[in-house]
Amino acid sequence: MGVIIALANQKGGVGKTTSTINLGAALAERGLRVLVVDLDPQAALSHGLGIQAEDLSNTIYNLLVDPDQDAAKALLPVRSGMDLLPANIDLAAAEIELVSALSRESLLKDALAPLRPRYDFILIDCGPNLGLLTLNALTAADAVLIPLQCEYFALRALTILLKTVTRVRARLNPNLEVAGILGTMYQTGTRHAEEVLGQARALFGQRVFDIYIKKSIRFAEASAVGKSLLEYAPDHEGAHAYRALAEVIIHDYSQK
Ligand SMILES: Nc1ncnc2c1ncn2[C@@H]1O[C@H](COP(=O)(O)OP(=O)(O)O)[C@@H](O)[C@H]1O
Ligand SMILES: [Mg+2]
Repeated sequence: MGVIIALANQKGGVGKTTSTINLGAALAERGLRVLVVDLDPQAALSHGLGIQAEDLSNTIYNLLVDPDQDAAKALLPVRSGMDLLPANIDLAAAEIELVSALSRESLLKDALAPLRPRYDFILIDCGPNLGLLTLNALTAADAVLIPLQCEYFALRALTILLKTVTRVRARLNPNLEVAGILGTMYQTGTRHAEEVLGQARALFGQRVFDIYIKKSIRFAEASAVGKSLLEYAPDHEGAHAYRALAEVIIHDYSQK
C-alpha cells in the first residue's frame, strides 16, 4: 500500500513543488513506484515534469468532482517508475464547487484509494493556502512534509500550519503524522539561514530534518526545462540532498 505524503506549507515559493519533484525522482531512482499528485491549480508540478496540462481533459479535477471517474484514466507515466496525476487551471474551480459536496474533505482520499496498491509512495504537491484542497491532502495523507524556507518570518506560517495539522488530526484524520520539516533555500555564508533553522529546531526539535536544501539556481534551471535536478545535474549537491532525504523517508515509512 502506497504511503501518502502531502508536501504542504501555505506560504508560496518555499520549495513544495521542487521538493515533490526531486524527492519523487529520488524515490523512483531507488526503484520504488512513485505517484506525484498536482493539487495546485497553478500546475507547477505538471509543468516542472515537462507536461503541458492546459488542454488535458482528464486531471485531478475530474477525479475530485466526479467520484465515479476511473482514477487510472487520469494517470500520466512521466518517468520510469513515476506517474503524475496532473492538474490545470480547472482545479481552481474545485475549491468553490466542492464546498457543498458530501464529505468534501475526503474526496481526494477516496479518489486515491484505488491507486494506492500500485505505488510505494504517493506525494501530493499542495498549493499555497490552507483551503479545501489542502485539507483534502491532509485528510488523505499518512504524513505531511513541510518545506521551510530558511528566511525570516517563515516560522510564523509554520506555527499556523502545525495548528491546522492538529485540527485535521482531531476531526478528519487521526493518523496524520508530521514526516518532518525540511529547510530549503538555505543560503550558506549568511547568519540568518542558520538562525532560522536553529529557531525551528528549538521550537520543533526532532521534527526538523538534519538534511536541508541549499539555495542554488540549478533548481530553477532544471524546472525551466521540465526536469528534476536529479536528471539535470545528477551530481549536484542539491540532488544528493534529495537522495539523502529519500533514504530517511524510506527508512521511516516503507515498513508501514
Ligand atoms: N533550494 C533552492 N534554491 C534555489 N531556488 C529554489 C530552491 N528550491 C526551489 N527553488 C526555486 O524557487 C521557486 C519556488 O519554488 P517552488 O518549489 O515552486 O515553491 P512552492 O511550490 O512552495 O511555491 C522556484 O522558482 C524554484 O525553482
Ligand atoms: Mg508549488
